[in-house]
Parts: sequence; structure tokens; C-alpha cells
Amino acid sequence: MLKRIIAAACLLAVSLPTLSANLANGQELNKSCALCHGAHGQGASGKLSPRIAGLPKEYIIKAMKDYVEGHRVYPLMVRTAQLEKFTERDFDDVAAYLSSLDLSSDGRFNIQSSFGDVDEGKDIYRSDCKNCHNSDGYGKPSKEAPPLAGQHPEYLYTTMRNFAEQQRVHANDKEDDTFSDYKDQDFINLAAYLATLDDNRVIKGYAFQAPTYAPSLAEFGSRKLNESIQITDIKQTVVRMALDAGVTTEKAEEAMLAKAEEIGLKKVAQQKVSQFLARQDVTMPHLSIFQFCNPLDARLMVMADPVFSSYMPCRISMVEDADGKLWLMMLNLDMLINSKLLPNEVVETAIRVNQQMLDVMAAGAAGKSSS
Ligand code: HEC
Ligand code: HEC
Repeated sequence: MLKRIIAAACLLAVSLPTLSANLANGQELNKSCALCHGAHGQGASGKLSPRIAGLPKEYIIKAMKDYVEGHRVYPLMVRTAQLEKFTERDFDDVAAYLSSLDLSSDGRFNIQSSFGDVDEGKDIYRSDCKNCHNSDGYGKPSKEAPPLAGQHPEYLYTTMRNFAEQQRVHANDKEDDTFSDYKDQDFINLAAYLATLDDNRVIKGYAFQAPTYAPSLAEFGSRKLNESIQITDIKQTVVRMALDAGVTTEKAEEAMLAKAEEIGLKKVAQQKVSQFLARQDVTMPHLSIFQFCNPLDARLMVMADPVFSSYMPCRISMVEDADGKLWLMMLNLDMLINSKLLPNEVVETAIRVNQQMLDVMAAGAAGKSSS
């Protein structure tokens, strides 16, 4: 009897549509993106956190692969999200999940721009961009052109500058010179105009396309804030990186301290817990805790809200697991960033500190302070 039940259960597992599992996998994988892009893929103002929710699935996949292959350069993202270990399925799942997130109904995620001349930007857009990015700004699949509406203006501005300075290839065409003749003010005006297109999408635009293998949009589609990621797993509250093979605790420490100094983070304390206990003949796996702080950032955060002081100073622990493997870990500041709607200047600071701490961890994990 038991055998029959097991057999039936296995059959069921095999014959269940793998569809829903894929989005579940996507949601799971998104936890490693949430650190920088926000729990809902909403991004933040500032150039370091583009919005990725609601982007077309194909574009998200292409972008991730572009970073892995070095066509777009942001090694910290590849490393932190472990993109090199993604299977095709993983790329597909996380992109499908993110592309199914619709933030348009939630006013708190509205894009705003406080700078630039919207009318000037509109003129340029109408003449030079709409052919590929569409008149509503939501992109054209036939041109592989992504939506620009709904994206954070600072990221758009920085990206256009990157195109102009040939740091990134625009329109998948190395010869593209769309941006070479514009002035800085044009980029500012374009970004200002694009910010006004947020939430005006035409439903036939491709940003609305359902993931191709999703069960149905009604079931899975327009996820709203309250259904999204909850902290259910203690591991989700931390970010971890294993030390690369051959990197000793001393090497990792040296690299972290060098990196911290380079980017203006002060090491304010270090507790060598296992070493301390060893002197009393108590053994335990390696554990040491580093504390970093940038006084000016601390000032800004605390003046915005004293609750942030409880997160300070930022900690990175170096810890050995039961298999003797060494890890660097820190609190996932994303929870803090998403904990409430912060004023822009504080979100930017929180994201920057988050990135700096990740930089320090990445240096430690690699055992060298330059990548
Ligand atoms: C360490 C922070 C970090 C992590 C973790 C991270 N990203 Fe990113 N991501 C960035 C930054 C910063 C950029 C913009 C870089 C640039 O200017 O090209 C970016 C860009 C992107 C883009 C391109 C956006 C666009 O509009 O072209 C996509 C798509 C993306 N990330 C997806 C992901 C996914 C999916 C994950 C998780 C599997 C992830 N990222 C994890 C920081 C991160
Ligand atoms: C010939 C078609 C074409 C034209 C014209 C065009 N674009 Fe693009 N654009 C693209 C494509 C394709 C991509 C995606 C490239 C990639 O996958 O990296 C893109 C990407 C971008 C991005 C990056 C989006 C992101 O999320 O990272 C920005 C910003 C952008 N274009 C702005 C503009 C502006 C502003 C204009 C007009 C001045 C313009 N484009 C004109 C095809 C075009």
C-alpha cells in the first residue's frame, strides 16, 4: 500500500505542470536580486538600482547574460547573485517572475523627476527615439528596444552618458551614434520627459506580455505588494559569500580592510571571537566580526530616522561552517531599504552603503582588493 502511495505521489510530482514551480523558482532566485533591486524589483532613485520589475522577459535574460559575458560591466552583480551558476532554466524563471511584477497600481512606486525640461525632452524623444522605444515609451519587441518609461531617471541619465562615452553599446550596434551629439542637458531633459510616461502604458505594449509559460495572469500575474516576498527563511535576512578556494582568513581580512580604506569606510571594531576563546582553551569554528562605519552616512541616516542607528555600525562576519568552509556574511540591508518609504537621499545612502559593504565582502571573498 505504502509503495503504491509513494508511486502515485511520484507520478503526481512528474505530471504536475512544471509551470508554477518555475515562477516559484524565479521568486526564490529573486531574493538574491532583491538586495540591490528591491524586493519587488522596484529599484530606487540613483544609478545603482534600476527598476527591473515589469521589464520584458527576453530583455531581462539578455541583460543578465550581457553582464555574465562582459558585454555590460557590473561584476558585483554577477558575483553577488551568482549569475555564473545560473542554468538556462534559472535565467528563464527569474526573468519570467520579474517581468510578471506590475508596480503600476501602487502609487508609492511612481517614478518622479524633479529636474529637466520635459518639453525639450519630449521634442528629442519624438524625433530620435520613439521609432524604436515606442511613442508611449514602453519599447518595441520587434526592435528589441526595452521600455524606458517606468525607469528611474537617474539610472536613465547615467546610462545615456555611458552610451555617449561608449561604456555600453546602445541598440545592440557598436556603430550606433545616437548619443554622440547630445549635450548633458539633453540627457537631463530626456530623463525628465521619460519620467512623465510612467504608468501610461498601452496594454498592447510588450511590457505587459505575460510570461509565456505562466499559468495565467489572473493566477500569477499582477502581483501586488502584499503578496510578494515575505521573510520566511533566516538565510534571506543575510547575504553570504564563500571565500574562494585558497583564500585564508588572513588574506581575506587584509583584502577587506584594504578595500574598506579605499572606499572611505572606517573599521571601527573587530571581535576575534574564536581567537579569544582559544586563549581560554575553548575551541570553536573560526568566527570574527568586523564593524565598519562612515560617520557622514551614519549622520544622514540617523537624522532621517533614529531607528537606523540600530543597524550601525555595519557588520561583516567571517565564519566557518561545519564542513570547514569559510563564509563572509552581512545583514541584508534590503530589508531596511524596503522597510518603509524613505526620503530619496536616504534610500540612495542606504543603497550606496549596501553596495560598499558588498564591495568589501567581494574583495574579502576573492582575497584581493582590486577586481
Ligand atoms: C550587487 C547589486 C546587484 C545584484 C545582487 C543584482 N543586480 Fe542587477 N543590476 C545592478 C546594477 C547596479 C545594475 C546597473 C548596472 C549598469 O549600469 O549597467 C543592474 C542591472 C540589471 C539589469 C539591467 C537593467 C536594465 O534596465 O537594463 C537587469 C535586467 C538586472 N540587473 C537583473 C538582475 C537580476 C535578475 C538579479 C538577480 C538574479 C540581479 N540583477 C542582481 C545591481 C545588482
Ligand atoms: C534603432 C533603434 C533605437 C533607437 C532609435 C533608440 N534606441 Fe535606445 N535602445 C535600443 C535597443 C535595442 C536597446 C537595448 C540594448 C541592450 O539590450 O543593451 C536600447 C537601450 C536604451 C537604453 C537603456 C535602457 C536600460 O534599461 O538600460 C536607453 C536609456 C535608451 N535606449 C535610450 C534611448 C534614447 C533616449 C533614444 C533617442 C535619443 C534611443 N534610445 C533611440 C534601440 C534604439
